[in-house]
Amino acid sequence: MTLLDAALAARANAYAPYSGFRVGAAVRCPDGSVHAGCNVENVAYPEGTCAEAGAIAAMVAAGRIVIAEVLVVADGPDLVTPCGGCRQKLAEFAGPEVPVILADLGGERTRTTIGALLPGAFGPGHLGGAGR
Ligand code: THU
Repeated sequence: MTLLDAALAARANAYAPYSGFRVGAAVRCPDGSVHAGCNVENVAYPEGTCAEAGAIAAMVAAGRIVIAEVLVVADGPDLVTPCGGCRQKLAEFAGPEVPVILADLGGERTRTTIGALLPGAFGPGHLGGAGR
């Protein structure tokens, strides 16, 4: 399954009654496995979750913790880009070189990387020995 197909299939199940903005995301792992998610909103707005978070949760639940490629798809006036929180969530499992494909319903439109989306990322090195 392509990342786009997986993300579109997840997006079809998006629960977005408040924004009406449906998002699908999919990640590919080095073993080729693909894990997808959609946004899941909540009447208590901050409790909603993004499509990227859903894809990451599906990946971790499937026993994978390394992302090789990301795709996000939505339908809007501009290509959707991962929100700030999702950039950090993705960076937990994806190095700065990992491609992030931005797509609309017609397919891939542009490519960027985790590093371009989140320069100066806070990472494990910043913790030093703290908390271990
Ligand atoms: N959303 C995502 O799922 N991913 C993004 O990268 C941007 C925003 C969702 C959150 C919310 O359900 C809706 O889009 C509008 O912000």
